[in-house]
Amino acid sequence: MKLVKSVRLRLTLWYTLVLASLLLAFSIVVFILLTSNLNQRLDEGIKLRSVHLSAILTEAGTSGTLTLDTNEILNFQIQQDETAQVFGTDSVPLLSLGLHLDDSLIKLAIGDALRGKSAYATTKTQGGDQIRIFVSPVLHDASVIGAVLVGRETRGVAVTLDSYKSMALIALILITALAGGGGYFITSRALKPVRYIAETAKVIGDGDLSRRIELTDGDEIGAVVLTLNNMFDRLQSAFIRERRFTSDASHELRTPLSIIEAEATLTLEKTRSKNDYKKALSLIAQETTHMSSIINDLLFLARSEAGKVNFVMEPLALGDFIKDLTMDVSVLARRKKQKLELKRIENPIILGDEIRLRQLFLNILENAIRYTPPKGTITVSLSVQDKTAVVEVADTGIGIAAGAMEHIFEPFFRADESRAREDGGTGLGLAIGHQIAVAHGGKIKVESQENRGSSFSVSLPVNTPDPAAAALALNKRRGKAPKGFRLFRWLFSK
Ligand SMILES: Nc1ncnc2c1ncn2[C@@H]1O[C@H](COP(=O)(O)OP(=O)(O)O)[C@@H](O)[C@H]1O
Ligand SMILES: [Mg+2]
Repeated sequence: MKLVKSVRLRLTLWYTLVLASLLLAFSIVVFILLTSNLNQRLDEGIKLRSVHLSAILTEAGTSGTLTLDTNEILNFQIQQDETAQVFGTDSVPLLSLGLHLDDSLIKLAIGDALRGKSAYATTKTQGGDQIRIFVSPVLHDASVIGAVLVGRETRGVAVTLDSYKSMALIALILITALAGGGGYFITSRALKPVRYIAETAKVIGDGDLSRRIELTDGDEIGAVVLTLNNMFDRLQSAFIRERRFTSDASHELRTPLSIIEAEATLTLEKTRSKNDYKKALSLIAQETTHMSSIINDLLFLARSEAGKVNFVMEPLALGDFIKDLTMDVSVLARRKKQKLELKRIENPIILGDEIRLRQLFLNILENAIRYTPPKGTITVSLSVQDKTAVVEVADTGIGIAAGAMEHIFEPFFRADESRAREDGGTGLGLAIGHQIAVAHGGKIKVESQENRGSSFSVSLPVNTPDPAAAALALNKRRGKAPKGFRLFRWLFSK
């Protein structure tokens, strides 16, 4: 609130200040131009008067001396703010009309004029007012026969300039005040949505995560609102996910704990046979193992999301690796009388953490077996397209409902809670697998149709290391495979 207010004030102040400075500068320029223009007109005016007076005089003078024709002089109507004086060659005033001047001040100018030079000067009347004068020689046959002085008070100019000054000042104050007020009003209006956004964001921040900012304008503010609302969406879903995750994790750990507690309490009720103790302890051990595997998975998830898991990346012959894994789980499939088939298996070299990749693919293979009814078929294939190895595990199992598809990579998500739990699933496998695939620069995709089957494909970038490293990767895996498996692989590769 405080911030908005100060922004509003600051904007208005800046705006007003800039406008006032511009107006002031403009007024000053106009004042300067006006002053020079008025002074110029004053000078032109007195010069004209002087010419007029000189003309009268020279016409009057015929014999080389100045004579004054009173009739003609009467035509030269003197104004009350003017002065007009005529001097003989000896500086003696022959005529003085209008205002009286301080003689001492004009002596120099008269002297100049009698020497043939005309000039302007600013001086004082006897009353002390400022007056502009023009002195010029009176010529007869190219010789000076006297001098003429004409002057006019500068008061007219001063009055005009003064009235301009006060008008400009009033205009400046009025315009600035109006512009400031208007600017404040406009910025208030412009910032109103910002205030609304701030208030709503505060409500949302205070805990009402489902609220959204409702502003539909497509302007800049609208873009901010859109970004904020998107952020709130993400925050809300992250928050919901977080809460569900915590409650799921607690729930998941409570079940084995209750079993352990119940079993221990029951067993301790009376003395039991050795066999009963053994049974109780083995149940407790089993539940403890289950719990510790959940906790390990959770730790891994938390650490990998924080980017704190160290993956040991080494060249790995992916085809051989997948064949080994398939071999490892084949016993599970056999138990459910399922067909576990290896289709086309290429053998690209990738850079990967073998232990983590084992975790990823084992879960996908186990899921396929777990969620496929007996006598179903599971097909494993590995192809390389555009430097990407794609491992696909397809089954003919129960499939995944369309609504569940987007959730299966979330921790603890199980489409069928009871069934998965019975089968020993924690719902963390795919979440972990996703993290592992991402850490390898790859991804997991799923396609599924309910009651028809699912297909999980993991894409991993193919690495082309130098031939020596590739050979090493290949040999390492070959060397690792048990004898029986080599036969198995030989059979598959046929
Ligand atoms: N091949 C599959 N067929 C059908 N459903 C599957 C398959 N793989 C995974 N799912 C669904 O995805 C859920 C999450 O899988 P996962 O994270 O591995 O957890 P879990 O296997 O412990 O249940 C499973 O509970 C199941 O509902
Ligand atoms: Mg699983």
